[in-house]
Amino acid sequence: MTGDLARRFPPGFAWGFAASAYQIEGAADEDGRGTSIWDTFARQPGAVVNGETGDVACDHYHRYRDDVRLLSELGAAAYRFSVSWPRVLPAGTGKVNQRGIDFYERLVDALLEAGIRPTLNLFHWDLPQVLQDRGGFATPEIVGAFADYAAVVASRLGDRVTDWMTLNEPGVFAFLAHADGIHAPGTRDWPTAMRVADNELRAHAAAGEAIRASVSQARIGIAVDVNQAVPASDSDRDRVAEEQYYATRNGWFLDPLFGRGYPEVGLRAHRSAGHLEGVELSHPPAGNLDYLGLNFYRRDTVAAKSGEAFDWEVTPPADAELTDMGWHVAPDGLRDVLLHLHREYSPSEIVVTENGAAYADVVESDGSVRDAAREAYLRRHIEAVAEAIDAGVPVTGYHVWSLLDNYEWSYGYSKRFGLLHVDFATQERTVKQSGRWYQGLLAEHRGTAG
Ligand code: FCB
Repeated sequence: MTGDLARRFPPGFAWGFAASAYQIEGAADEDGRGTSIWDTFARQPGAVVNGETGDVACDHYHRYRDDVRLLSELGAAAYRFSVSWPRVLPAGTGKVNQRGIDFYERLVDALLEAGIRPTLNLFHWDLPQVLQDRGGFATPEIVGAFADYAAVVASRLGDRVTDWMTLNEPGVFAFLAHADGIHAPGTRDWPTAMRVADNELRAHAAAGEAIRASVSQARIGIAVDVNQAVPASDSDRDRVAEEQYYATRNGWFLDPLFGRGYPEVGLRAHRSAGHLEGVELSHPPAGNLDYLGLNFYRRDTVAAKSGEAFDWEVTPPADAELTDMGWHVAPDGLRDVLLHLHREYSPSEIVVTENGAAYADVVESDGSVRDAAREAYLRRHIEAVAEAIDAGVPVTGYHVWSLLDNYEWSYGYSKRFGLLHVDFATQERTVKQSGRWYQGLLAEHRGTAG
């Protein structure tokens, strides 16, 4: 059972959970927190299902001690959280809000007391609104502002936190938020999105340097979203579309992070679609990564329409097994992406920084949530990680997205990813069947690994 699976992971493997500030904290107006672009975006009519906001979310800001206790009960060895930039620097730069940074200090201390290793992510999309008002990530000034923010957090928490992450999913932030307009700040302009991507890569490098300057033991990573991309058929058109899709999204960040600059295929495709009009790309510095974070959820099947770049359709095949997000479940895709990253870029370590699934959970009359589908999703993906490790890929950790049901961006509270069910009216947390399964796996691993 879980024993056999647990034994396939080396001692010290970092099992954990991932979460982000805006999705769980709430306390939007407390202790001097500034406004973030998600506070603004969520209030735009039609932006979020039911107009829901993260004002209260999981109330984690007040309940963090209980949540750390739950992490501990589940046997987590690691926990990845994000710091809210506007909580720490309400004006984006300059004066530090002591009460804001105090919260993260309390959280880190509680984690360390419970023997849980924190991974601190600096940016999970909740940019201070004041910085957005000055152009946000589309302006070069953001690079220095982000490095200064990193230095502030590092100076307060660097004595206790060794695992750092600069950005979460730079691709989603650049493209979904600035070209598709479905995430904050809701911009729909490709050249802007391309500038954002370019500045993200430079901001990552600058923040990394700022952290290393004050934290000698720092391990620095970034979490990229790389889902598996496959062509819809073996026709030349579909194969080219898939290659362009990969290069304009995934390769666009991975190649520069590993010192190769922007990929040719991606440059040609973005240029032919007009995305680079008026854009001056930099030569982004290499990422200088101690580990690469991988967020993986699904398989994307790419079909060409006209044969023009970006004129493609990404839809799962008719018989695909789907989650509640409509995402195609593909555990072998996780194994193959891990193998690909290892072969292509050979990062010294890879940490699966997010993996999980939304399902429409049913709370039984006895209060239990029998989410067998989520349990199976996790088991199959963790088996896929074990296969990658067997094949020589240096995977050193795995974080489930997520500990709690939470605010799923433009889906509001309608999509549940937690291994703990949250009743948003009472804030009651209940461990789901999948959570008990994961707890069992982690206990077996501790037992077998000594
Ligand atoms: C990822 C995000 C995370 C969460 C999951 C489901 O793209 O990083 O915040 O929304 O998807």
